[in-house]
Amino acid sequence: MTSNSQSSIRFVLDGEVIELAAVDPTRTVLQYLREDLGKVGTKEGCAEGDCGACTVALAEVDSSGGRLQVRAINSCIQFLPTLDGKELITVESLRGPDGSLHPVQQAMVDWHGSQCGFCTPGFIMSLFALYKNNASPSRREIDDALAGNLCRCAAYRPIIEAARRMVTDYGERQQAGGWLLQPHAANARAGDDEKRRVDLLNSLKSDRSLALEAHGRKFFAPQSSDEMAHLLHEYPDATVLAGGTDVGLWVTKQHKELEVLIYTGSVSELRAQAVSDSQLEIGAAVSLSDAMQPIIEHYPTLEELFLRFASPPIRNAGTLGGNIANGSPIGDTMPALLVLDTSLVLRKGDGRRTLPLSDFYIDHQQTALQPGEFVEKILIPLPVDGEHVESYKVSKRFDQDISAVCGAYRLVLDGGNVADIKIAYGGMAAICKRAEQCEKTLRGKPWNEVLLDEAMNALGRDFTPLSDMRSTAQYRQRICRNLLQRFYLDTTGAGDERLYSYGR
Ligand SMILES: Cc1cc2nc3c(=O)[nH]c(=O)nc-3n(C[C@H](O)[C@H](O)[C@H](O)COP(=O)(O)OP(=O)(O)OC[C@H]3O[C@@H](n4cnc5c(N)ncnc54)[C@H](O)[C@@H]3O)c2cc1C
Ligand code: FES
Ligand code: FES
Repeated sequence: MTSNSQSSIRFVLDGEVIELAAVDPTRTVLQYLREDLGKVGTKEGCAEGDCGACTVALAEVDSSGGRLQVRAINSCIQFLPTLDGKELITVESLRGPDGSLHPVQQAMVDWHGSQCGFCTPGFIMSLFALYKNNASPSRREIDDALAGNLCRCAAYRPIIEAARRMVTDYGERQQAGGWLLQPHAANARAGDDEKRRVDLLNSLKSDRSLALEAHGRKFFAPQSSDEMAHLLHEYPDATVLAGGTDVGLWVTKQHKELEVLIYTGSVSELRAQAVSDSQLEIGAAVSLSDAMQPIIEHYPTLEELFLRFASPPIRNAGTLGGNIANGSPIGDTMPALLVLDTSLVLRKGDGRRTLPLSDFYIDHQQTALQPGEFVEKILIPLPVDGEHVESYKVSKRFDQDISAVCGAYRLVLDGGNVADIKIAYGGMAAICKRAEQCEKTLRGKPWNEVLLDEAMNALGRDFTPLSDMRSTAQYRQRICRNLLQRFYLDTTGAGDERLYSYGR
């Protein structure tokens, strides 16, 4: 902590700037809302990002500096200091000055989208984020927006009906103040409202980094990669915090005491992304929602994988860097990133090294990161002509579920022969890894069903999976073979239509 650092957080709630000093670094936004402010509209269901009862929205000024970006997140796993510089929007914030309902709320009332009501504020906030960002959501976009909200009364059909109608039938209801203005209308009042909010958020910006100390814990939010490297040099055992969608659960579910947290979300270099002639460069703190856009643009067949990654609130908070650094054997992006020959730029002190992702995982949740080292950037090569890339996730639920097995494949054919192939799986071993025996069986040979049989057998030499609550070992073995067969069928044009094409 330096004399030049900022020791309190400032954020906007309901038009007011709130300044809090001595904030417990691991207090969640949900605890703050319910216990400190008595704003009990936001509910707690699971405290682990799964049910959506705690959904709120965050508004930030976008990279252009002139527009607001509004996104839903799960307040139950979001630590309070990460609100610094942002606007927090809760279900209570949507009410108009005269007490009238927001169009999203009115549509839910009129179309009977609420039964016991426990999940309703969470659904409202997910729909509010959709309403702010999409003037005419398709059925698939509505389903995706609600993928992180569970309703025990199963009122889904009327909720979807309300979602369909919230903009078309209710969007023109305009009132001053609150969040009532129709975001898509080209009128002066909507523009004024956004400008007022942007100006307020811009007024909170500071070039002094946040350094808090309270309740025996420290929280740092460096603004540059240099600053982050120095802090990690000083505190090599600190917990690096990105979106907190893994780390948050260490606190809410495992009750871990985290003494020093270093937050990546304010580090400008880690939030940047770029495309060069040869690769995508994605900063480690870029959210999954933002990182998936250029990846899908260049690798359209990976869309389903990203849309099935958790839910929008988790993807809005969680980062690609966090998914990689967490080192889970069932992380969803790693198999695809492995077959794409991804590399990582790692930084420690003033030094940087570039490491292939395939050398990053050592053993179960052990990575090649040294104490004081962090992931700065993810480098993904651009596609080459004629390659086939696919990734398939198998989980018990279609949305918002962790994989039993996730496979990824990249094939380059020369005539009918396999010129190059990369295959990787998650859920089959202590780490996500390439299927090297299987790849060896395939290279240089004709891509046909006889070879496929041999390759499927070779997978048995690559992996000896375990049984756990997600799957038995036998099921994993079977599914890993079947996914390779599915890839074969997709490359020959005989595959079924993609699952995610429903509701388009
Ligand atoms: C409800 C729910 C659903 C989920 N669904 C999925 C899913 O479908 N697929 C899936 O793969 N995962 C899923 N996850 C797990 C999680 O969302 C992802 O792993 C996410 O990408 C983690 O990113 P984060 O930014 O939140 O990481 P954090 O929780 O902030 O950090 C995760 C780990 O990475 C480290 N870390 C983060 N950034 C860096 C860095 N720059 N340098 C070094 N270390 C760093 C942290 O110290 C920590 O060890 C889910 C989680 C929840 C709660
Ligand atoms: S309380 Fe269930 S997602 Fe937050
Ligand atoms: S209305 Fe009862 S849980 Fe959704």
